[in-house]
Formats: sequence, C-alpha cells, structure tokens
Amino acid sequence: MIKLRNIEKVYDAGGSKTFVLRRIDLDVREGEFVSIMGASGSGKSTLLAILGMLDSQWTGEYYFDDTAVHKANQKQRAAIHKQHIGFVFQSYHLLDSLTVYENLDIPLSYRDIKPKERAAIVADTLDRFNIVGKKDLYPNQLSGGQQQLVAVARACIAKPKLILADEPTGNLHSSQGKEIMELFKRLNAEGTTIMQVTHSEQNAAYSDRIVNLADGWIVT
Ligand SMILES: Nc1ncnc2c1ncn2[C@@H]1O[C@H](COP(=O)(O)OP(=O)(O)O)[C@@H](O)[C@H]1O
Ligand SMILES: [Mg+2]
Repeated sequence: MIKLRNIEKVYDAGGSKTFVLRRIDLDVREGEFVSIMGASGSGKSTLLAILGMLDSQWTGEYYFDDTAVHKANQKQRAAIHKQHIGFVFQSYHLLDSLTVYENLDIPLSYRDIKPKERAAIVADTLDRFNIVGKKDLYPNQLSGGQQQLVAVARACIAKPKLILADEPTGNLHSSQGKEIMELFKRLNAEGTTIMQVTHSEQNAAYSDRIVNLADGWIVT
C-alpha cells in the first residue's frame, strides 16, 4: 500500500542545512499495524506528515497504492488524504469554531453518505468514545485528553483505509489509552492499515512491527 524510496527532508535556513529525514526506504502492506519509535526530534512527526500528504517539501519517491505521490499535484494529494487517510495530529488540530459533533461530521462530509446516515454514524461514534455529553461543546471547552479522544474519533469515523496517528494516547489516562489501542487492534483486524508514532512499549506491543528512527535515519 505504501512504498517509500530514498525520501529525504532538509531544512535550509540561511545556508545551514538541517537534515531531518535521510534516505528513508519503507514498505507497508495493506492490513499492517506499524509503530514508529525514536527519540524526540528523530523525525517521527515529519515522516507521518509526509505519509499523510500534509507535507510536500521533500524529495524521493512515494507510492500510495498505484499513485506516484511524488508526481501528484497538491489537489490530487489532498483528494487521496480526504478519501483514504484518517490522521491524528500530535496537537489534535480540531477546528476551534466547530462543535465536537461538527468536527466528527467533517470526514463523513467527504464521503457519499446520506445526511441521516451521517447523523447515525456520529451518534454511534460519540457513544463509543463516551463523549455524548460533549457533543455541543467547542474544543477549547475540553481538556487535552478529551480533545485527543475527539481527534482519534475523527480520524476513525469515516473508516479510512489508512490511519496515521501521532502519539494518539499521549494525553490520555492509561485505561483510555488502552481502549484506543484495543480500538486500533479491532480496526486493524477488519483490514485498516495503521501507523502510529509512540513512545510507549505497551502501545507498540499492539503493532506487528516497529520502525525505529534515529536522527532521521531508519535503524534496526
Ligand atoms: N521548521 C523547522 N525548521 C528547522 N528544523 C525543524 C523544523 N521543524 C522541525 N525541525 C526539526 O526536524 C527534526 C524532526 O522533528 P520531528 O519530526 O517533529 O521529530 P519527532 O516527531 O521525532 O520528535 C527536529 O530536529 C526538529 O528540530
Ligand atoms: Mg513528534
């Protein structure tokens, strides 16, 4: 499903170059559950943003299914993101001017689903994530942990074929974190491909394999 070849990312600030990703080769098959681990600053979030087609300032080759992403334009990349990818940002990125309910409805609005069915899916998701009572609140009225739950719910709600999650349980209680991992495990068993950035060995144990990054390199 994913094939990366020689992906490199460099920040060039006033003549001094910072290499953030170096010669990244990575293959992920449909249905895999992969953890990305590494020290702070090793390039995990950068790699996830490239995979999610949110960053286009890189060189190398990226194939997503049959699409050569490195040759696709911004519009094509955005279309693939909307149709196939659920993304959990490290800092949540909920839309501040929308309620929890409306935030959850956005990914569904990109799909060909009738409004009535959309409402049922949102209601079901609110219930499953135990946030029914929060549905009319705005993100700034929620705790960090609650925002993170909504962010995970939003990434999963439209059943994307790929979920990319950047430290999705970093702000949750361990029991909530475990529930998210159990949810990922279930979605993965149903065929969803999952890539998560995590610092937690416990979370990584839910995945099939671990990709270790150090100073922008994949190490084993
Ligand atoms: N705008 C930027 N300019 C220069 N360097 C940056 C910028 N953004 C991130 N970096 C650097 O890229 C590296 C990787 O960052 P990141 O992918 O966020 O790491 P991680 O998620 O593993 O903690 C870090 O060394 C960081 O300092
Ligand atoms: Mg990060």
